[in-house]
Amino acid sequence: MIGGLVLRHLRKAVLAIGAAAALSASALAAVPGPAQAATSGPCDIYAAAGTPCVAAHSTTRALYAAYDGPLYQVKRASDGSTTDVYPLTAGGYANAATQTSFCAGTSCTITEIFDQSGHGNNLTIGPAGGNGAADVGANAAALPVMAGGHLVYGVYVSPGVGYRDDSTSGVATGSEPQGAYMVAAGTHVNSGCCFDYGNAETNNDDNGNGHMDAVYFGTLCWFSPCVGPGPWVQADLENGLFSGGNGNNPNNKGNNSQFVTALVENNGTTTYAIKGGNADSGSLTTWYSGALPVASGYAPMHQEGAIILGVGGDNSNSSAGSFFEGVMTAGYPTDATDNAVQTNIVTVGYTNYTLPGNPFTIGSEISLRATTPCCTADYLTGDTSGDEVGITSVTSSSSPALKADATWIVEPGLVNSSCISFKSANGSGDYLRQFYSELYLEPQNGTAQFAPYATFCPRAGNSGSGYSFMPYNYGNEYIRHYNSVAYIASDGGGPRSSARKRCAESIPGTAAMSAM
Ligand code: AHR
Repeated sequence: MIGGLVLRHLRKAVLAIGAAAALSASALAAVPGPAQAATSGPCDIYAAAGTPCVAAHSTTRALYAAYDGPLYQVKRASDGSTTDVYPLTAGGYANAATQTSFCAGTSCTITEIFDQSGHGNNLTIGPAGGNGAADVGANAAALPVMAGGHLVYGVYVSPGVGYRDDSTSGVATGSEPQGAYMVAAGTHVNSGCCFDYGNAETNNDDNGNGHMDAVYFGTLCWFSPCVGPGPWVQADLENGLFSGGNGNNPNNKGNNSQFVTALVENNGTTTYAIKGGNADSGSLTTWYSGALPVASGYAPMHQEGAIILGVGGDNSNSSAGSFFEGVMTAGYPTDATDNAVQTNIVTVGYTNYTLPGNPFTIGSEISLRATTPCCTADYLTGDTSGDEVGITSVTSSSSPALKADATWIVEPGLVNSSCISFKSANGSGDYLRQFYSELYLEPQNGTAQFAPYATFCPRAGNSGSGYSFMPYNYGNEYIRHYNSVAYIASDGGGPRSSARKRCAESIPGTAAMSAM
């Protein structure tokens, strides 16, 4: 147990610093593809089929060939000002350079995701609901991704993040038919309620069966048994995530590709369908197509027409997921139309973004140096199981034991291999993990909680060079230090920290010190 442990004193001999220098990020190596996505976007396809989009949200690309309006808005922490990110060209991919330059030297939050459908159904950060405090916006830099060969950003939903529009136009209400899809990441999921995109209550409350019609993606198995470990595409129809039929569905085997197309359709009176596919290749699998649940309230449906992203209908906001694009239609799309949309999505070629010059080779030994002007001779150091991790001056003449305490072996992220975990090189076999916003050395205890708390995602360095490390399950925070102790925290302090900590700069990776 961590509680009750004595603060470890990290202050050790301060000697001249050796040659370890912060790694600097270089320009993206990938050659950008065409700025324009395709001659038709998903919403052109749905419109041509008579089931037009009434909501179209994406931070990565325009969803109509002619759309050249804003995709999303970011707000920066330094001065509270905002800017909008547009496509590079009409119908094209997001011009992420706008975000990069606007947010340079500070952090940005996604404050609005614009509706491209012309219905004005923009998503803003969600209000409190019957089962969740007011949401927060996603860290705009948390989810870099390649789309069409371009670096763009998705919406990184960690618990607490959510978006909503309670006053929409054109969205299905009552028993009107609707289709909805989203593209999500198959590797960034959890079992918290509810990583949803779609139709929900206008008062942010659970108003009973059938008051929601949203596509869910994650590992929450509401009606067991579910098949395999998931994640599953399911229908959130309120008071249940339906794998198909009346809840459980042995045919729904889950979708765990890197990028997943998740789709739910509902004719509002008798039938619904659930489909999933690899957003990078192939076609959709229909996991279910048949009668609506027999429990009262679902047939006919009682849709209210609000739109949610990343939360449940009552603002249950303990879910995690990655959102890249999503639409809602008026009418029940045909299979042929969905298939054409899936073909369009595949042309995007969503791929994970690799940090330029990524030094985080699995198995390599690295040290992590503070970039704050006070402390550039200090390294992230941990010596004893259960003790807090802090920053300590380490030099070429430091003791072998201290050098080992400041050396970390890069391992595949314990909960997600697109991120990394840090195992101490001091022979303890312990991992760097967070607990109540502080960082500790702890042995892997095999619990479900340990893995996400010991997984960190490298991001371009907030200080302008090197790398910053975002905790896997807290997308608005980074590894930081204060008073020589290491924390995870957002700008101005972590949300779970009772005493708001003033946090210094993030800690980028440095050359391995084990060689010193
Ligand atoms: O239906 C699952 C969830 O249950 C809904 O999203 C939420 O409103 C309720 O708590």
